[in-house]
Amino acid sequence: MDNSAQAWQSRKLTETYLQGVRGAIPFAGEQIDVMLRVIGAARPDAGLVLDLGCGDGILAQAILDRFPAAQLVLLDFSEPMLEMAKERLLGYDSAAFGLVDYSDPSWLKDAYGENAQRPGYDVIVSGFSIHHQPDSRKRQLYQELYDLLKPGGLFLNLEHVASSSAWGESLFADYFIDALYDYQQRQGAELSREEVDRRYYSRPDKAANILAPVETQCQWLREIGFERVDCFLKIFELALFGGVKGA
Ligand SMILES: C[S@@+](CC[C@H](N)C(=O)[O-])C[C@H]1O[C@@H](n2cnc3c(N)ncnc32)[C@H](O)[C@@H]1O
Repeated sequence: MDNSAQAWQSRKLTETYLQGVRGAIPFAGEQIDVMLRVIGAARPDAGLVLDLGCGDGILAQAILDRFPAAQLVLLDFSEPMLEMAKERLLGYDSAAFGLVDYSDPSWLKDAYGENAQRPGYDVIVSGFSIHHQPDSRKRQLYQELYDLLKPGGLFLNLEHVASSSAWGESLFADYFIDALYDYQQRQGAELSREEVDRRYYSRPDKAANILAPVETQCQWLREIGFERVDCFLKIFELALFGGVKGA
Protein backbone atom coordinates (compact mmCIF):
# COMPACT_ATOMS: atom_id res chain seq x y z
CA MET A 1 0.00 0.00 0.00
CA ASP A 2 1.45 3.42 -0.89
CA ASN A 3 1.28 6.57 1.19
CA SER A 4 -1.61 8.14 -0.72
CA ALA A 5 -3.88 5.19 0.13
CA GLN A 6 -2.74 5.44 3.75
CA ALA A 7 -4.26 8.94 3.86
CA TRP A 8 -7.53 7.15 4.68
CA GLN A 9 -6.11 6.11 8.03
CA SER A 10 -5.87 9.73 9.15
CA ARG A 11 -8.54 11.34 11.29
CA LYS A 12 -8.40 14.49 9.16
CA LEU A 13 -9.34 12.74 5.90
CA THR A 14 -11.97 10.70 7.72
CA GLU A 15 -13.60 13.90 8.97
CA THR A 16 -13.27 15.68 5.62
CA TYR A 17 -14.92 12.75 3.83
CA LEU A 18 -17.70 12.18 6.37
CA GLN A 19 -18.53 15.85 6.93
CA GLY A 20 -17.85 17.36 3.53
CA VAL A 21 -18.07 14.69 0.84
CA ARG A 22 -20.21 11.60 1.69
CA GLY A 23 -23.41 13.66 1.99
CA ALA A 24 -22.67 15.40 -1.31
CA ILE A 25 -22.47 12.24 -3.41
CA PRO A 26 -25.16 12.66 -6.06
CA PHE A 27 -27.94 10.06 -6.04
CA ALA A 28 -26.55 8.52 -2.85
CA GLY A 29 -30.07 7.57 -1.69
CA GLU A 30 -30.89 5.99 -5.04
CA GLN A 31 -27.60 4.06 -5.06
CA ILE A 32 -28.42 2.57 -1.67
CA ASP A 33 -32.01 1.89 -2.68
CA VAL A 34 -30.91 -0.04 -5.77
CA MET A 35 -28.30 -1.90 -3.71
CA LEU A 36 -31.02 -2.96 -1.22
CA ARG A 37 -33.34 -4.06 -4.04
CA VAL A 38 -30.68 -6.24 -5.62
CA ILE A 39 -29.84 -7.74 -2.21
CA GLY A 40 -33.55 -8.37 -1.54
CA ALA A 41 -33.92 -10.12 -4.89
CA ALA A 42 -30.81 -12.30 -4.52
CA ARG A 43 -30.89 -13.05 -0.74
CA PRO A 44 -34.27 -12.00 0.72
CA ASP A 45 -33.02 -12.21 4.34
CA ALA A 46 -29.55 -10.85 3.47
CA GLY A 47 -28.03 -13.34 5.97
CA LEU A 48 -24.31 -12.99 6.70
CA VAL A 49 -23.06 -9.79 5.09
CA LEU A 50 -19.58 -8.31 4.68
CA ASP A 51 -19.11 -4.55 4.19
CA LEU A 52 -15.52 -4.23 2.94
CA GLY A 53 -13.92 -0.79 3.35
CA CYS A 54 -16.97 0.08 5.44
CA GLY A 55 -16.00 3.65 6.38
CA ASP A 56 -18.53 4.88 8.93
CA GLY A 57 -20.88 1.98 8.14
CA ILE A 58 -23.36 3.84 5.97
CA LEU A 59 -24.03 0.81 3.74
CA ALA A 60 -24.08 -1.63 6.66
CA GLN A 61 -26.65 0.46 8.50
CA ALA A 62 -28.92 0.67 5.44
CA ILE A 63 -28.72 -3.13 5.14
CA LEU A 64 -29.50 -3.68 8.84
CA ASP A 65 -32.44 -1.28 8.68
CA ARG A 66 -33.93 -3.08 5.66
CA PHE A 67 -32.98 -6.63 6.71
CA PRO A 68 -33.07 -6.72 10.54
CA ALA A 69 -32.10 -10.42 10.66
CA ALA A 70 -28.83 -9.75 8.80
CA GLN A 71 -25.47 -10.30 10.54
CA LEU A 72 -22.98 -7.64 9.48
CA VAL A 73 -19.19 -7.84 9.40
CA LEU A 74 -17.57 -4.46 8.84
CA LEU A 75 -13.90 -4.33 7.82
CA ASP A 76 -11.69 -1.29 7.27
CA PHE A 77 -8.03 -0.38 7.73
CA SER A 78 -8.78 3.03 9.25
CA GLU A 79 -9.18 3.18 13.01
CA PRO A 80 -10.98 6.55 12.93
CA MET A 81 -13.43 5.17 10.34
CA LEU A 82 -14.09 2.06 12.44
CA GLU A 83 -14.69 4.26 15.49
CA MET A 84 -17.31 6.20 13.51
CA ALA A 85 -18.87 2.94 12.30
CA LYS A 86 -19.09 1.61 15.85
CA GLU A 87 -20.75 4.83 16.94
CA ARG A 88 -23.22 4.73 14.04
CA LEU A 89 -24.18 1.12 14.77
CA LEU A 90 -24.31 1.43 18.57
CA GLY A 91 -27.93 0.31 18.81
CA TYR A 92 -27.43 -2.80 16.65
CA ASP A 93 -26.14 -6.02 18.22
CA SER A 94 -25.64 -7.97 15.01
CA ALA A 95 -22.58 -6.05 13.81
CA ALA A 96 -18.93 -7.11 14.19
CA PHE A 97 -15.91 -4.96 13.30
CA GLY A 98 -12.36 -5.68 12.18
CA LEU A 99 -9.26 -3.63 11.42
CA VAL A 100 -8.01 -5.18 8.18
CA ASP A 101 -5.99 -3.99 5.17
CA TYR A 102 -7.19 -5.89 2.10
CA SER A 103 -4.48 -4.51 -0.22
CA ASP A 104 -2.67 -7.83 0.08
CA PRO A 105 -4.05 -11.42 0.08
CA SER A 106 -2.77 -11.79 3.66
CA TRP A 107 -5.90 -9.90 4.77
CA LEU A 108 -7.76 -13.21 4.64
CA LYS A 109 -5.46 -14.64 7.30
CA ASP A 110 -5.74 -11.44 9.37
CA ALA A 111 -9.52 -11.47 9.17
CA TYR A 112 -10.24 -15.18 9.46
CA GLY A 113 -7.12 -16.80 10.92
CA GLU A 114 -4.59 -19.16 9.34
CA ASN A 115 -6.58 -22.38 9.38
CA ALA A 116 -10.02 -21.15 10.35
CA GLN A 117 -12.89 -22.02 8.12
CA ARG A 118 -13.82 -19.01 5.97
CA PRO A 119 -17.27 -17.66 6.76
CA GLY A 120 -19.33 -18.11 3.55
CA TYR A 121 -21.10 -14.80 3.09
CA ASP A 122 -24.56 -14.38 1.61
CA VAL A 123 -23.75 -10.84 0.53
CA ILE A 124 -20.57 -8.78 0.15
CA VAL A 125 -20.83 -5.05 -0.46
CA SER A 126 -18.17 -2.41 -0.83
CA GLY A 127 -18.55 1.35 -1.24
CA PHE A 128 -16.02 3.64 -2.93
CA SER A 129 -13.06 1.71 -1.58
CA ILE A 130 -11.60 -0.87 -3.97
CA HIS A 131 -10.64 1.76 -6.57
CA HIS A 132 -7.55 2.50 -4.47
CA GLN A 133 -6.06 -0.84 -5.56
CA PRO A 134 -4.07 -1.38 -8.77
CA ASP A 135 -6.13 -3.22 -11.39
CA SER A 136 -4.31 -6.53 -10.92
CA ARG A 137 -5.08 -6.42 -7.19
CA LYS A 138 -8.72 -5.41 -7.80
CA ARG A 139 -9.21 -8.50 -9.97
CA GLN A 140 -7.43 -10.75 -7.47
CA LEU A 141 -9.54 -9.32 -4.64
CA TYR A 142 -12.74 -10.01 -6.62
CA GLN A 143 -11.61 -13.63 -6.85
CA GLU A 144 -11.03 -13.69 -3.06
CA LEU A 145 -14.49 -12.23 -2.49
CA TYR A 146 -15.98 -14.82 -4.85
CA ASP A 147 -14.32 -17.55 -2.80
CA LEU A 148 -15.75 -16.05 0.42
CA LEU A 149 -19.34 -16.14 -0.89
CA LYS A 150 -21.75 -19.03 -0.44
CA PRO A 151 -23.09 -20.48 -3.69
CA GLY A 152 -25.83 -18.07 -4.78
CA GLY A 153 -24.20 -15.25 -2.78
CA LEU A 154 -24.12 -11.71 -4.12
CA PHE A 155 -21.27 -9.22 -4.55
CA LEU A 156 -22.09 -5.55 -5.12
CA ASN A 157 -19.52 -2.81 -5.56
CA LEU A 158 -20.68 0.80 -5.36
CA GLU A 159 -17.68 2.39 -6.92
CA HIS A 160 -15.86 5.29 -8.49
CA VAL A 161 -15.09 3.99 -11.99
CA ALA A 162 -13.18 5.40 -14.97
CA SER A 163 -14.81 7.48 -17.69
CA SER A 164 -14.18 6.26 -21.21
CA SER A 165 -12.70 9.61 -22.31
CA ALA A 166 -11.11 12.77 -20.95
CA TRP A 167 -14.37 14.49 -21.92
CA GLY A 168 -16.38 12.15 -19.67
CA GLU A 169 -13.85 12.72 -16.91
CA SER A 170 -14.26 16.50 -17.04
CA LEU A 171 -18.08 16.18 -17.23
CA PHE A 172 -17.97 14.13 -14.04
CA ALA A 173 -15.54 16.48 -12.28
CA ASP A 174 -17.75 19.46 -13.08
CA TYR A 175 -20.86 17.62 -11.96
CA PHE A 176 -19.26 16.46 -8.72
CA ILE A 177 -17.84 19.89 -7.87
CA ASP A 178 -21.33 21.39 -8.36
CA ALA A 179 -22.74 18.73 -6.02
CA LEU A 180 -20.00 19.43 -3.43
CA TYR A 181 -20.57 23.17 -3.69
CA ASP A 182 -24.38 22.82 -3.28
CA TYR A 183 -23.95 20.47 -0.33
CA GLN A 184 -21.41 22.68 1.41
CA GLN A 185 -23.61 25.77 0.88
CA ARG A 186 -26.50 23.91 2.51
CA GLN A 187 -24.17 23.03 5.41
CA GLY A 188 -23.46 26.76 5.85
CA ALA A 189 -19.87 26.69 4.55
CA GLU A 190 -18.76 29.99 3.07
CA LEU A 191 -16.65 28.57 0.25
CA SER A 192 -16.72 29.90 -3.31
CA ARG A 193 -17.26 27.50 -6.24
CA GLU A 194 -13.62 28.25 -7.20
CA GLU A 195 -12.38 27.21 -3.76
CA VAL A 196 -14.41 23.98 -3.86
CA ASP A 197 -12.93 23.34 -7.32
CA ARG A 198 -9.39 23.98 -6.04
CA ARG A 199 -9.86 21.70 -3.05
CA TYR A 200 -11.38 18.97 -5.24
CA TYR A 201 -8.32 18.89 -7.49
CA SER A 202 -5.83 19.03 -4.61
CA ARG A 203 -7.60 16.60 -2.26
CA PRO A 204 -5.23 14.22 -0.41
CA ASP A 205 -6.91 10.99 -1.57
CA LYS A 206 -6.91 11.95 -5.29
CA ALA A 207 -3.52 10.35 -5.93
CA ALA A 208 -4.86 7.15 -4.37
CA ASN A 209 -7.57 6.76 -7.03
CA ILE A 210 -6.84 4.08 -9.63
CA LEU A 211 -10.01 4.02 -11.65
CA ALA A 212 -11.01 1.19 -14.01
CA PRO A 213 -13.94 1.19 -16.46
CA VAL A 214 -17.06 -0.55 -15.22
CA GLU A 215 -17.17 -2.71 -18.39
CA THR A 216 -13.68 -4.05 -17.66
CA GLN A 217 -14.56 -4.81 -14.04
CA CYS A 218 -17.82 -6.56 -15.02
CA GLN A 219 -15.80 -8.65 -17.48
CA TRP A 220 -13.39 -9.66 -14.69
CA LEU A 221 -16.37 -10.75 -12.58
CA ARG A 222 -17.70 -12.91 -15.45
CA GLU A 223 -14.28 -14.48 -15.98
CA ILE A 224 -14.07 -15.32 -12.26
CA GLY A 225 -17.41 -17.13 -12.48
CA PHE A 226 -19.95 -14.57 -11.30
CA GLU A 227 -23.32 -14.83 -13.05
CA ARG A 228 -26.01 -12.20 -13.71
CA VAL A 229 -23.22 -9.64 -13.79
CA ASP A 230 -24.50 -6.16 -14.47
CA CYS A 231 -24.02 -2.48 -13.89
CA PHE A 232 -27.27 -1.76 -12.05
CA LEU A 233 -26.87 2.01 -11.86
CA LYS A 234 -24.41 4.52 -13.27
CA ILE A 235 -24.13 8.27 -13.34
CA PHE A 236 -20.91 9.50 -14.93
CA GLU A 237 -18.17 7.86 -12.81
CA LEU A 238 -20.37 6.52 -9.99
CA ALA A 239 -21.47 2.95 -10.61
CA LEU A 240 -23.15 0.08 -8.79
CA PHE A 241 -22.15 -3.23 -10.32
CA GLY A 242 -21.77 -6.84 -9.30
CA GLY A 243 -22.96 -10.39 -9.75
CA VAL A 244 -24.06 -13.63 -8.14
CA LYS A 245 -21.87 -16.67 -7.44
CA GLY A 246 -23.25 -19.65 -9.33
CA ALA A 247 -25.20 -22.14 -7.19
C1 LIG B 1 -14.32 6.69 0.38
S1 LIG B 1 -14.38 5.76 1.86
C2 LIG B 1 -15.94 4.92 1.67
C3 LIG B 1 -16.52 4.47 2.97
C4 LIG B 1 -17.89 3.80 2.88
N1 LIG B 1 -17.80 2.48 2.28
C5 LIG B 1 -18.89 4.66 2.13
O1 LIG B 1 -19.55 4.15 1.22
O2 LIG B 1 -19.01 5.85 2.49
C6 LIG B 1 -13.23 4.47 1.54
C7 LIG B 1 -13.03 3.55 2.72
O3 LIG B 1 -12.23 2.43 2.31
C8 LIG B 1 -11.26 2.19 3.31
N2 LIG B 1 -10.11 1.54 2.67
C9 LIG B 1 -9.37 2.00 1.64
N3 LIG B 1 -8.39 1.14 1.34
C10 LIG B 1 -8.51 0.09 2.20
C11 LIG B 1 -7.76 -1.11 2.41
N4 LIG B 1 -6.68 -1.39 1.67
N5 LIG B 1 -8.17 -1.96 3.37
C12 LIG B 1 -9.25 -1.66 4.14
N6 LIG B 1 -9.99 -0.53 4.00
C13 LIG B 1 -9.63 0.34 3.04
C14 LIG B 1 -10.93 3.57 3.86
O4 LIG B 1 -10.34 3.53 5.13
C15 LIG B 1 -12.31 4.22 3.87
O5 LIG B 1 -12.99 3.97 5.07
